[in-house]
Amino acid sequence: SKPRILIARAMFPETIEKLSEYFEVESNQEDIAWSQDEFARHLQDKQGVFTTGSDRIDADLLAKCPQLKICANMAVGYNNFDLAAMTAAGVLGTNAPGVLNETTADFGFALLMAAARRVSESEHWLRAGQWDRWRYDLFAGTDVHGSTLGIIGMGRIGQGIARRGAHGFGMQVIYHNRSRLDAATEAECKARYVSKEELLRTADHVVLVVPFTPESRHTIGASELAMMKPTATLVNVARGGIVDDVALAAALKDKRIAAAGLDVFEGEPKVHPDLLTVPNIVLTPHIASASMATRLAMADLAADNLIGFLIHGKPLTPLNQEVMGGGDSIGA
Ligand code: GLV
Ligand code: GLV
Repeated sequence: SKPRILIARAMFPETIEKLSEYFEVESNQEDIAWSQDEFARHLQDKQGVFTTGSDRIDADLLAKCPQLKICANMAVGYNNFDLAAMTAAGVLGTNAPGVLNETTADFGFALLMAAARRVSESEHWLRAGQWDRWRYDLFAGTDVHGSTLGIIGMGRIGQGIARRGAHGFGMQVIYHNRSRLDAATEAECKARYVSKEELLRTADHVVLVVPFTPESRHTIGASELAMMKPTATLVNVARGGIVDDVALAAALKDKRIAAAGLDVFEGEPKVHPDLLTVPNIVLTPHIASASMATRLAMADLAADNLIGFLIHGKPLTPLNQEVMGGGDSIGA
């Protein structure tokens, strides 16, 4: 008989159809919000699970699902996985890297443009019927073209944002990363490596694209915000918690920086109420990778990881392949 898998949230019909060729599929197509206990009840007799970036896999859940072998995340980030607990339980995790880089870089630029040029703020004002109150400096923002773009986290997405800035908008690009890029990649992105402090002090716009780890929590807090220019924009398309949201709301309210664009939040889907009351901010519900083509590609990659591992013994993008042992069936 076919292996059994669970799809934790509603999913593209074509993804369910593809998975059904290989597996007995239970899917949460009504998108019911399960508690962790309900999630465990649905998962306890399954060998695989298709998760989104908000379905939490932890030791408690794993203990209740002894047949589980793989969790395939439809996201590049996997801070919803307790990977150490998964490895201890012999459960493979996979993520969905690569396919979303350019789409996410597009959105980083969208938030940067929208924040610097006050797009959301001005639209609210227009919708509220206030256009008869025009004045000479109405929603005058900060230029993006020709300015200095500072990127913290220079993986593929950061590099995509750098290329857009350097080649499309004539920006000077500076970046900070755990490790320097090789010279060829720096040249292609026209990006110069600087310390985090120099970046914060000199960038006109700061974009965050670092993965969430205990070390990257509050990469931007009150003291970092204090280093930024009062005209600067801050954009976060990485993960909630990279920015101290309370400190950011205070900095925006006091005009210590000019504007911000956030796609991710500490404790999302809850958004700190202080962020909802400051006007000079653009807020989106974690949609940076959400073009139709890219979401389909992410779903397809998660599905291919389930099929690759449970049917062929070769996942495409494993996170903890040590759970697969030393055999020659280990996928690259
Ligand atoms: C989205 O945030 C992802 O990690 O893919
Ligand atoms: C993700 O793929 C990144 O490297 O930023």
